[in-house]
Amino acid sequence: MKMLEEKILAEGRAMGEDILKVDSFINHQVDPLLMKQIGEEFAEHFKDKGITKVVTIESSGIAPALMTALALDVPMIILKKQPSKILNDDLYQTVVTSFTKETSYELTLSRKFLDENDHVLIIDDFLANGEAATGAIRLIRSAHATVAGIGILIEKSFQPGRQKLTAQGFEVYALARVAKLGKDLIEFLPEE
Ligand code: G4P
Repeated sequence: MKMLEEKILAEGRAMGEDILKVDSFINHQVDPLLMKQIGEEFAEHFKDKGITKVVTIESSGIAPALMTALALDVPMIILKKQPSKILNDDLYQTVVTSFTKETSYELTLSRKFLDENDHVLIIDDFLANGEAATGAIRLIRSAHATVAGIGILIEKSFQPGRQKLTAQGFEVYALARVAKLGKDLIEFLPEE
């Protein structure tokens, strides 16, 4: 998506070879017009998939997921992160380990909001190792719902997330695919 790539080139900063800082329009300050266009792009791409709900992981996935849900005219669900194990019969829970942040958290979903009639689009800001998306898929499956696809704003294509997900048969649609990061360098793969 040209608008997102241009924004990344204008305002993104590579922190070494692994991390792309996008605090001024995604992770801290949020650009509403960009989020609106991102939502419309995902909705256009996935419009024929019979999606009943959009699911995201707090917190940076919320803005683009909400805009996507609005464009598809379906509800959005936020998977919550909890630091410790809280036993609760009303929740589906799974542990996710983040290699980037070197932490683990419990991802949770209320049993009320998904069931076997749901076909879900997962939206998130970054795809790195694919752990968050894999945890989201585990929860969606616990609820006997199905996954329609995974929409990502920024894929770090030099990390294994996409490969892990596509190997399991999931469609990954990424709006910007970063091939390489370095000092004063952000390189993209061609658009999908
Ligand atoms: P994975 O889910 O693909 O395995 O990614 P990983 O666990 O390694 O990433 C964990 C967190 O780090 C996620 O945020 C993810 O968005 C973020 N992250 C990964 N790579 C980058 C990067 O290059 N730049 C930035 N800015 N963030 C990155 P989170 O913990 O879920 O935080 P939140 O912002 O959604 O609250």
